Amino acid sequence: MASYKNSFGVFVLQLMVLALFSIQSQGHGLKVGFYEKSCPHAEYIVSNVMKEVMAVAPSLSGPLLRMHFHDCFIRGCDGSVLLDSPTNQSEKFSPPNLHLRGFNIIDKVKLALEHACPGVVSCADILALVARDVTVATKGPYWEVETGRRDGMVSLSNDPINPVTGLPPFFANITMLKQSFALRGLSTKDLVVLSGGHTIGVSHCTSFENRLYNFTGRGDTDPSMDKNYIARLKLKCKPRDQTTIAELDPGSFKTFDDSYFRLVNKRRGLLESDAALLNDPETRAYMVQATSHGSTFFEDFGVSMVKMARIGVLTGSQGEVRKVCTKTN
Ligand SMILES: *[C@@H]1O[C@H](CO)[C@@H](O)[C@H](O)[C@H]1NC(C)=O
Ligand SMILES: *[C@@H]1O[C@H](CO)[C@@H](O)[C@H](O)[C@H]1NC(C)=O
Ligand SMILES: *[C@@H]1O[C@H](CO)[C@@H](O)[C@H](O)[C@H]1NC(C)=O
Repeated sequence: MASYKNSFGVFVLQLMVLALFSIQSQGHGLKVGFYEKSCPHAEYIVSNVMKEVMAVAPSLSGPLLRMHFHDCFIRGCDGSVLLDSPTNQSEKFSPPNLHLRGFNIIDKVKLALEHACPGVVSCADILALVARDVTVATKGPYWEVETGRRDGMVSLSNDPINPVTGLPPFFANITMLKQSFALRGLSTKDLVVLSGGHTIGVSHCTSFENRLYNFTGRGDTDPSMDKNYIARLKLKCKPRDQTTIAELDPGSFKTFDDSYFRLVNKRRGLLESDAALLNDPETRAYMVQATSHGSTFFEDFGVSMVKMARIGVLTGSQGEVRKVCTKTN
């Protein structure tokens, strides 16, 4: 056997060990039911508050799902997106985060948890649990959420706009999107599956206005977008409209379903980053599968959410458990 060893073989083996190590170390220390003993009703408390919230403010489902994504992609899922800053220099003041909504809901959940079990449940875990609960509230899939994250102490407004490690922008092409996900250990499948979360999302006109009015700077429209759809969107969004909101999946933003993929397939994706999913064979094939009989989108969404929720987590004695989600202790 030893005679087959060569330097190439050893090299490959080392790479494999490295890859295994890095996959396993991701999310190490998380588990389903982490608070079983320390705060037995934690998940029940979160769900109860979220049921009340969703009954009166269902439009917060998309933004709250998005908040977890924006948290995980920057410094890992450590609640850094929640931190305030007296000088507006934390993540939440970064341009891609200025439209996030629902911070007060996270505070409300935290208050209920602090009442039951002071100083036990982290804000990063609250974001993960809330993301699941808003998905369920909109008739989407249920998945078991791993918990045990600790909260980070650092939040910088420049991080989300870093061209390499920041949040993928709404105008990202397929190459940029795949790179951004790969950087965090997420696959091309995770990219298309998680994009399906746009089924309950909304966007400001400013994020796609260029596709309607001035795509290349010559007063043109985006040729990759359905012409009839452009005409309809122009009625809703006038040039330089800073306030109007459009649904990413019109008519069903309160329902988690596969209609987002149907729209993108018909060249009616709202953002360039939605339309970009047509420019890769794997993401394109997935969107056909996801809208066909036997679609695995719902199961896949849970699997990819668990993966995303493991990115760069702090566990054990790292970080802290904040008493208030907007401030370090
Ligand atoms: C921080 O931003 C808010 C608006 O979000 C503004 O009213 C306030 O003046 C800003 N504070 C500083 C110190 O820049
Ligand atoms: C995607 O965008 C990047 C950055 O703007 C650019 O360098 C690259 O050529 C683009 N790729 C495709 C396939 O359009
Ligand atoms: C379109 O964009 C170009 C380049 O940014 C700009 O010079 C021009 O004024 C814009 N046209 C309109 C109609 O906004």
